[in-house]
Amino acid sequence: MGIPPGTPFETVSETFRCPSCGASEEFFHAAREHVNEPLERDDLSDEEFSHVPRYRQTDSGILVRIGSEDVSHPDEDAHFLEWVSLVDDDGESLETKIRPVSGEDVLFEGWFLEDVNEVRACCSIHGIWKGRPDTPSENP
Ligand SMILES: [Fe+2]
Repeated sequence: MGIPPGTPFETVSETFRCPSCGASEEFFHAAREHVNEPLERDDLSDEEFSHVPRYRQTDSGILVRIGSEDVSHPDEDAHFLEWVSLVDDDGESLETKIRPVSGEDVLFEGWFLEDVNEVRACCSIHGIWKGRPDTPSENP
């Protein structure tokens, strides 16, 4: 049984289990409203940079990469990239990929940038980060 959008987190039953994967309530957390805005690369620490999804249009769809080979985000039990998502003008997800791997490409096949408002990624500890167009010099 699903939970309707907008349900206050504190009202979710302790016996709730995800209908898709079976994860228990303890693996969920309150939705975060704040979205970290990316700065210019020169103004970002490496830790901050490792959270910002960078995207570009390809013939196959929108290609997204978080972090790089040199500056990768942790992938540990408590600290990992939860998701990367294409969102509309209301901040609602158009398509989401779970557990993206830092430094590797994520393809949102068939999507065009003109149909998407933003690209966002979420870290299990550091919250939601707004993406920005890819800069080739950031991808060695
Ligand atoms: Fe993080």
